[in-house]
Amino acid sequence: MSDWNAETAEWYAEKYGEYATNRLAVEQLVLLPDCSVLDIGCGTGSALRHVAKLANKGTLVGVDIVPRMVEIAEERRGRSAAANRLYFRTGAAEALPVGDAEFDVVLAFDSYDHWNDPAAGLAEVRRVMRPGGLFCVVKDGGVQSLRTFREQATANGFTVQSEEHIEGDGVTFTLWQCRLANRTNTPNTDEKSHE
Ligand SMILES: C[S@@+](CC[C@H](N)C(=O)[O-])C[C@H]1O[C@@H](n2cnc3c(N)ncnc32)[C@H](O)[C@@H]1O
Repeated sequence: MSDWNAETAEWYAEKYGEYATNRLAVEQLVLLPDCSVLDIGCGTGSALRHVAKLANKGTLVGVDIVPRMVEIAEERRGRSAAANRLYFRTGAAEALPVGDAEFDVVLAFDSYDHWNDPAAGLAEVRRVMRPGGLFCVVKDGGVQSLRTFREQATANGFTVQSEEHIEGDGVTFTLWQCRLANRTNTPNTDEKSHE
């Protein structure tokens, strides 16, 4: 079970709510102005507020499992010029409260390793992504972090197109950019691991 709750949400928002990782990772992405973006484990909504500067027409939705975190994201929504295109909902990665094939881009910034069931979460990402969609995962903390992500993503139908280790503004993180290997909702077992 996730150990995130109202108390840890307050702590995280205060200490890391506007962490530089979100801005630096978003700066690496090539986003079309009208793309729709879903951020899973959105925290305070920081990443989406940066995304809004690039994707300046599309719908932007943040989902977080902790209701208090979603309230904090709502409280900070007005910090973005795109406040009228930003939506936050309570929900789990493993049962996303959104429809099928709604999103061009799905983010999981420092949330993937908190998911209770990564395979179920990846199946949900496949369900909600449009054909040709992009799935971006960030893990704070250097090259040793989240070593299993590439294997899990590949086994669950994604092709990992890039893996970058990025440092700056006092943070170090890894950014993976993935596409669906095919459009079926079954894992692509033919895909070879890149490890
Ligand atoms: C380390 S914080 C990262 C927040 C934000 N993405 C950021 O980078 O600032 C992890 C977030 O994932 C959320 N989370 C944990 N498990 C989750 C799950 N199964 N589904 C959705 N969100 C989850 C937590 O509530 C928390 O807000």
